[in-house]
Amino acid sequence: MARHLITSALPYINGIKHLGNMVGSMLPADVYGRYLRQRGHEVLYICATDEHGTPAELAAKDAGQSVDAYCGEQHDAQKAIYDGFHLQFDHFGRSSSQQNVELTQHFARKLHENGFIEERAIRQVYSIADERFLPDRYIVGTCPHCGYDKARGDQCENCTRVLDPTDLIDARSAISGSSDLEVRETKHLFLLQSKLQGEVEQWIDDNSEEWPTLASSIARKWLTEGLHDRAITRDLDWGVPVPADVWPELAAEGKVFYVWFDAPIEYIASTKEWADADPAHRDWKSWWYEADDVRYTEFMAKDNVPFHSVMFPATELGTREPWKKVDFLKAFNWLTYYGGKFSTSQRRGIFTDAALELLPADYWRYFLIANAPESDDTSFTWELFSSSVNKDLADTLGNFVNRVLSFSRKRFGDEVPAGAAAGEAETKLGEQIAELLAEYEGHMEALQFRKAAAALRALWSAGNSYLEEKAPWLEIKTDQEAAALTLRTAMNLIHLYAIVSEPFIPAAAKAMRGAFALDGDTAAWVTAEEARALASVPAGTAFTVPPVLFAKITEDDLESYRERFGAAE
Ligand code: 2FM
Ligand code: ZN
Repeated sequence: MARHLITSALPYINGIKHLGNMVGSMLPADVYGRYLRQRGHEVLYICATDEHGTPAELAAKDAGQSVDAYCGEQHDAQKAIYDGFHLQFDHFGRSSSQQNVELTQHFARKLHENGFIEERAIRQVYSIADERFLPDRYIVGTCPHCGYDKARGDQCENCTRVLDPTDLIDARSAISGSSDLEVRETKHLFLLQSKLQGEVEQWIDDNSEEWPTLASSIARKWLTEGLHDRAITRDLDWGVPVPADVWPELAAEGKVFYVWFDAPIEYIASTKEWADADPAHRDWKSWWYEADDVRYTEFMAKDNVPFHSVMFPATELGTREPWKKVDFLKAFNWLTYYGGKFSTSQRRGIFTDAALELLPADYWRYFLIANAPESDDTSFTWELFSSSVNKDLADTLGNFVNRVLSFSRKRFGDEVPAGAAAGEAETKLGEQIAELLAEYEGHMEALQFRKAAAALRALWSAGNSYLEEKAPWLEIKTDQEAAALTLRTAMNLIHLYAIVSEPFIPAAAKAMRGAFALDGDTAAWVTAEEARALASVPAGTAFTVPPVLFAKITEDDLESYRERFGAAE
């Protein structure tokens, strides 16, 4: 038994997320966390909404709300959706919490004390009409290279050239449209990452060996390009204020920390939020400070890897305090929608709220994890989705469960029938199940989700093959005892499926387990011996037939989904 700390990238507060966002962060984190809990480990799964930054401010403005009220509402809306997907966070916090304000300021103080923060003057575009400095992406104008008239100050979307705001022709504020802009000098705090390059490199050398290549290669690439000093403050109203005791001038000007500085610190602060809610029983520090007995796993999409593999560790190292650093960084490629980008801003693809309105969480959980973009991008298509739901969930698993339980009830009544003693076929089946189970466990422990899903499918298929081979509907005509043995064995498989499928499809797992009236059925996991014996549900156990676990997606459904969400664009 070990202590496992799990975090998934914090979803931005502005807007409901799409499926691509969830598949590379929260969902696999939940699957892994559930599995570890079932195996008896102590697990703490922490996430939160990432609430600071200009996009949050502007979204609130668009919604006609104060940022505070907007974030509160959006946090609750996102949380409700994640509950709908059965994500078992120990805590889903908020990066705008007081705990994060204090910890972020603490980190900044320590970095300053150790000589890793410096005040520097920079020149930035100021909008007189908006009474604020504008981040590069909030300045628009005509691209000097291609003439595109909505180019942003950081990049032209049309010709993809990287720009400086001063390159733009007829520059104006993206917020108000005003062209009353000027360049002003302003002071900001810089994190001297260049001074930490050697240490971070050493830390990566010592720690990234078992990370997936996707994660370690991105980390290496950033290190090769060299760690640059970065501005970690912004001129915004909304964010963690710069502490006045250290930087009185900047604090008086209302500077706040850059969202990417405070967001990863929220992993720790969210743990503190969790502990502060029940201080008698919870302790945050043992998870994060001198926490050598903790194994820390992070989940994220590949665009987040630089921040988590290099910059956040640099920040932690620079405090000269023993903060827990990531042990295993699980990174994902993209989920695409018919090969194109899912897009929050253009609302293309499937959003988490719409998904749940359409079908129960288990359908999505299974499909997304079984097709997780681990070694490459995965293209979501309705055709792939429906074939995988129909074949794996409805036919292989759901139909097996329903067929076995209904047939047994019809022939033998509401209790698991006794029948003959296990024979050769059952011994062979038990061996096979134990083997597949070990395979499944191996993949889960290695965080290889697609392979784990394949092993789970193989477990389900083994039951179908056994049933086809024994054909209890034929056995019953000549040998009641033999048919009863087959059904009893198959019911034991259902119980085993309930346990091992739980990380993927928790609701169906609950229904499967609940079918059997087993007193004190708290078994968290299945041992190899139990898998071989297939006898955890003894003869005489009362059972019920649960409603159909997975409905098939029909051609008509498919057509309507394609129409509603757009396909093959
Ligand atoms: O890319 C994103 O969605 C960010 N909000 C992730 C932040 S992860 C962490 F560092 F907080
Ligand atoms: Zn251009």
